[in-house]
Amino acid sequence: MTETLKVGLIGLGVMGRRMLDRLAAQQRLEAVTVWDSDPAAIAAALVAHPHLRAAADAEAVVATPGLASLYIATPPAQHMTLTELAFDAGLAVFCEKPLTVDFDAAEHAIHRIEHEGRRAAVNFALASSPGLQVLQTSFGAASHRPLGTLREVNLELAFAEWPRQWQSAAGPWLNERHSGGGFTREVLSHFMFVVQRVLGPVRIGAHRISYPDDGVTAEIALRAELHAGEVPVRIDARVGHDERADYNRMSWRADEGEVELTSWFRQIERRRHDGQPTAADSQETPDVGQADQLTQWAAMIEGRSHSLPGYAEALAVQRTIEGLLKP
Ligand SMILES: NC(=O)c1ccc[n+]([C@@H]2O[C@H](COP(=O)([O-])OP(=O)(O)OC[C@H]3O[C@@H](n4cnc5c(N)ncnc54)[C@H](O)[C@@H]3O)[C@@H](O)[C@H]2O)c1
Repeated sequence: MTETLKVGLIGLGVMGRRMLDRLAAQQRLEAVTVWDSDPAAIAAALVAHPHLRAAADAEAVVATPGLASLYIATPPAQHMTLTELAFDAGLAVFCEKPLTVDFDAAEHAIHRIEHEGRRAAVNFALASSPGLQVLQTSFGAASHRPLGTLREVNLELAFAEWPRQWQSAAGPWLNERHSGGGFTREVLSHFMFVVQRVLGPVRIGAHRISYPDDGVTAEIALRAELHAGEVPVRIDARVGHDERADYNRMSWRADEGEVELTSWFRQIERRRHDGQPTAADSQETPDVGQADQLTQWAAMIEGRSHSLPGYAEALAVQRTIEGLLKP
């Protein structure tokens, strides 16, 4: 029988509690110990999952006997400190995105991964999506270019409000530009991860970020053009002014066809301009990636190959994101 891998969780807000529900629905990874700096968040988690042990603090979580991994779902400002704590305890880390805005701290963690053999990955959920596989086989480095040469990538994001309704219980950090919040870090980072995974490094060209005048609140609009080699990547993102609530659409246009992905890659359309069928003309992929993601997390813990983004990959994404946030 395959061994169950014990995991601890720190940060029991919107994402931490979602992860607890997902862990409870499978058997490979078992949540055993949790902690949050807010006692009310711990209490709420224990109501839903009474078998969990609440630790006294973060140090007690990582010291739990038999623990294999720590999942970090605090706001970004705590990600690196908790990563180092977990590394000191010999644990593999699965950390929420965005990795951090503290690049020196990220470099330090990456140094430990490379020189001490630490294991760590970042939760960009699209990493395990069928949509990313379609993009890799259509346009990735090893692709035979079934749709011809890629010419442009366009991404449109629209939010009815920020924070989004489902995340409205999150802390104030989510709508504060100096606390790691805003849709560029929170949502655009997922799509920039995809672009950089498929096409490699990008250069930021013309971009315009719009902030409210209060000096505190996160951005409300972004228009940008980036370049992945010769390929322009255009972004049009905004909060409000749009009746299409929380809309996202990414299109990859090549000489002989295009791939269009909507609703967090749940809908994938691959079309050839000449009307010939393609391997994946149209797919609906409800939540298949989420189950696979936990499988990938287990592989990462065991030191097997996996598809989750590492810290160096997530830092490269974050450098792009922070560049876009500069006025
Ligand atoms: N992968 C995804 O699809 C996805 C989606 C949403 C959010 N996120 C990310 O997940 C993380 C958490 O987001 P959220 O929406 O759950 O936020 P949240 O504000 O709902 O929850 C954060 C929790 O962390 C706790 N916390 C704060 N500082 C702490 C500390 N030092 N030690 C322990 N606990 C601490 C807070 O009390 C709170 O309960 C963020 O990095 C966010 O960007 C990822």
